[in-house]
Amino acid sequence: MEERIIDIMDPYELNNYLASRSYVNGFSYSYGDLALCKKVCECVDKYEKYLHVMRWLNHAKSLSSRQGASIKGDLPPAEKTSQYVITKDMSLDQVILDTLSEQKEISSLSFASENGLDHQKLVGAIKSLLALPTEYIKAEQKQISKWELTNEGKSFVANGSYEFLLYSAVTKDGILQKDLMKMPNAKIGFSKAMTLGWLAMDKKHANGPTVFRKVDGAIDVVKAVLVDIENRQNVEEKKIQDLKKRKLITPIVTKFYSLTKGSEFKTIIERPEADLTADMLQDASWKKKSFKDYNFEAKGAPVTSGYLHPLLKVRTEFRRIFLDMGFSEMPTNRFVENGFWNFDALFQPQQHPARDAHDTFFISDPEMTKESKLPSDYLERVKTIHESGGYGSTGYNYDWKIAEAQKNILRTHTTAVSARMLYALAQQKEFKPVKMFSIDRVFRNETLDATHLAEFHQIEGLVADRNLTLGHLIGTLYAFFKKLGLEKLKFKPAYNPYTEPSMEIFSYHPGLKKWVEIGNSGMFRPEMLLPMGIPKDVNVIAWGLSLERPTMIKYGINNIRELIGPKVNLNMVQENPICRLNKI
Ligand code: PHE
Repeated sequence: MEERIIDIMDPYELNNYLASRSYVNGFSYSYGDLALCKKVCECVDKYEKYLHVMRWLNHAKSLSSRQGASIKGDLPPAEKTSQYVITKDMSLDQVILDTLSEQKEISSLSFASENGLDHQKLVGAIKSLLALPTEYIKAEQKQISKWELTNEGKSFVANGSYEFLLYSAVTKDGILQKDLMKMPNAKIGFSKAMTLGWLAMDKKHANGPTVFRKVDGAIDVVKAVLVDIENRQNVEEKKIQDLKKRKLITPIVTKFYSLTKGSEFKTIIERPEADLTADMLQDASWKKKSFKDYNFEAKGAPVTSGYLHPLLKVRTEFRRIFLDMGFSEMPTNRFVENGFWNFDALFQPQQHPARDAHDTFFISDPEMTKESKLPSDYLERVKTIHESGGYGSTGYNYDWKIAEAQKNILRTHTTAVSARMLYALAQQKEFKPVKMFSIDRVFRNETLDATHLAEFHQIEGLVADRNLTLGHLIGTLYAFFKKLGLEKLKFKPAYNPYTEPSMEIFSYHPGLKKWVEIGNSGMFRPEMLLPMGIPKDVNVIAWGLSLERPTMIKYGINNIRELIGPKVNLNMVQENPICRLNKI
């Protein structure tokens, strides 16, 4: 530190001086520093809000404790470049500023090579300095191009040029042209050697066209120039252009920066704060800080929110379609059912294989539904229709047991819900037509594979009205599936204990290029509806399908374990688009 600096006691001036002075690395403590340090410490309050003074003070204090009494006698000017040793842990942007405080101009390329730095990293530091809100440095982009030998050029240096090799192959007595031309690259070599006047040809020679040497001891100039270029010697521009034309050399362009001090140059990097914190408000340090401008162009952070699982996305869409068609939703909050509503009410005989433990999950606690929970009159009518028939039906002719009906199970289909709703409908004073749907979970004790789990979702729709026919069912199915984008349907006779007639529904899948089964349907049997008390002229058309199948097709999922269970990838849930079924 120069002595006169000690006299600068005006905080603002001192701050400016210290801002432009590099004292970080290789800085030795001088008498000037010591004296100034004492003075500043005496009235530190005055300097407190001057960043560079405070920074210098901290630095000087830490040095004085490290250097102890080893204070230099003379007063050195600001440190010399030679003292400046760049260590790995120094930030390159600070290094650039410190160097610029002593050097007028820096070339990034030579600076990198002199200090063993990676040029690319240095460029990164330059860019970060340029990104600061004030002009710390000026950077002018420049480029130099060097000539580098191509592989062919390198082979010339190693073996000689084609023309020289050809010339060398010509003996004193000449050589037959046809033999000479057998040499590698003879055509180019020959024409070059002829142009250079190294060779002559006797077309009318007795043995046939013969080539002779025209000069003695030709010099391989091309090779010599290439060697010069390799050794970075100056080479005439014309020669360079010739070699470039012959593709023996190629330019390598290197971009670099020439750096000079900017209008706001200082050696201390002040990065504007991004946030105003509670601490800054409390200790008033916000007054001394500069703050980043708002970036109104910035994209907002993605809003964190819940996401619908693909099954729920598809369910939302099916629900919308039903609601659009004027259907109302049935309450499906009853996973545990009893055999009565799941099977008996649906005229499914008690010996039916679906009621077997292989197909149905039974509840062990409580095992049975209390008899009082089942509507007794209706229960009697169900018993009768199973045992001996009625309303023109012969029934199944077996002993119907209430114990079987009381067994608690996990519902195997949502048609149990439909049965409860139709029974409730029949209890109303006056019959009113209804359109109802449900989408919820059902359970089956089945073998698991890539597309089946023991639980899945069913979508079910029904319409109850007077004088409905199979034609109404078919028409409704066309209208419904059209909303899913499925216009080609086929129907195949099928069997359900509770519908007659029953039809499986197939649709042509243009992607899979085949007819796929998409659902099951039918008209509920009189044996199911009449014991409930539904008027005789009322028919109920109904259909059901699984939710998983369209979901897997829609989202291209092949294994059900990627859709449900511990292997589900949450990104899949978050990133899959909403469902528009008619765009499958
Ligand atoms: N419950 C039937 C099933 O489990 C679907 C269905 C519903 C069939 C309504 C006909 C009528 O597949």
